[in-house]
Amino acid sequence: CIMEDLERDLLIYKGFYFQRKASITGFLENIDDFEIRDDDVFIVTYPKSGTAWCQQILSLIYFEEHRKRTENLETFNRIPFFENCFEDIDFGSRPSPRLFATHLPYYLVPRGLKNKKAKIIYIYRNPKDVMCSYFHFLNTYPIFKAADTIDAFMKQFLEGKVLGNLWFDHIKGWYEHRNNFNIQFMMYEEMKKDLRSSVLKLSKFLGEDLSEETLNAVVRQATFESMKDDPLANYENALYLYFGSKLREGHFLRKGTIGDWKSHMTVEQNERFDKIFRKQMKDFPLQFIWDV
Ligand code: A3P
Repeated sequence: CIMEDLERDLLIYKGFYFQRKASITGFLENIDDFEIRDDDVFIVTYPKSGTAWCQQILSLIYFEEHRKRTENLETFNRIPFFENCFEDIDFGSRPSPRLFATHLPYYLVPRGLKNKKAKIIYIYRNPKDVMCSYFHFLNTYPIFKAADTIDAFMKQFLEGKVLGNLWFDHIKGWYEHRNNFNIQFMMYEEMKKDLRSSVLKLSKFLGEDLSEETLNAVVRQATFESMKDDPLANYENALYLYFGSKLREGHFLRKGTIGDWKSHMTVEQNERFDKIFRKQMKDFPLQFIWDV
C-alpha cells in the first residue's frame, strides 16, 4: 500500500513531507534560524523540474576556475540538498559562496531568505512532464516504493502525497510570495529551447560575468547529452551514497525532453488532469510550455 510505504519513508513536518532517512533530529526545528549569508544561492524546485541541471550549471559557473578541486566531488557535495542534511555535512563551515538545492515550500525556508538575503533560483516545468518524470524516477530506485501505473501515480500526485507535496501549492506559494525574496524564475522548457540564453540570464542574476569562452564551456557541459555521459552530473553514484541503493534500471537523466507526457497519458487522463489544472491555476500569470 502506497500510503503505508510513504509513511515509512517520509515524515511530515509542518505539513510538508521530508525524507525520513535524511532528516537529522533537530535540523528541521531549526531551519527558520539557519544563518543565511548574503552570497548564498538556493536552487528551489519541485522534484523532477530540473534541479540536477541547475546544479550542473551553477557548478560550472562557480567552480570552473578551480575545477581541479571539485571535479571529483559528487554534485551533492558541491551543491548539497539543504533539507537532506546528513551528519557529516557541516553547512556552517562551508566557504562562501555556498550553493544549496532544496524542494522546500516558501513558508519553510530560513528567515534570512525571507529578508531578501541571498539569491534564489526557482525552476519550474510543466506538471504533466514533472509527473511522468517523477513516476519513472520512483520506479528507477528500489528504495522507493512506487505506484506501478501512471493512473495510480496521477492520483497520488494530484493529491500531493509525494515528496514536494502538491505541485500547485509549491509553485503558487513561491510565486505569490516572490516579492519577499530575491528570486529569479526559470522555466525548464525555455532552458531546453535556448540553453545559452538561459545560462546568460542566470549568470546575470547571479552577478557573475562570464567570458565568451566560459559561457561556451558551461553550455557545452550542461546539455543533456554531456551530462548523461558524466557520472557525477548524472548522479550515477549519488543515490547509492545517499540511500545505499543502486539503480533498479535506467539512469537519473532519463529523457530530458518536452512533452514526454504525451506518450504516457491517455486522452481521458489528460482531460482529468487539465480540469484540475484549470481550476487550480486560474488567474496564475506564468505560462507553461506543454509541447515542442
Ligand atoms: P526526465 O525524467 O523527463 O528525463 P530533477 O533534477 O529536478 O530531479 O529533474 C530531473 C529531470 O530533469 C529529468 O527529466 C532529467 O532527465 C531532466 N534533466 C536533467 N538534466 C537535463 C538537461 N541537461 N537537459 C534536459 N533535461 C535534463
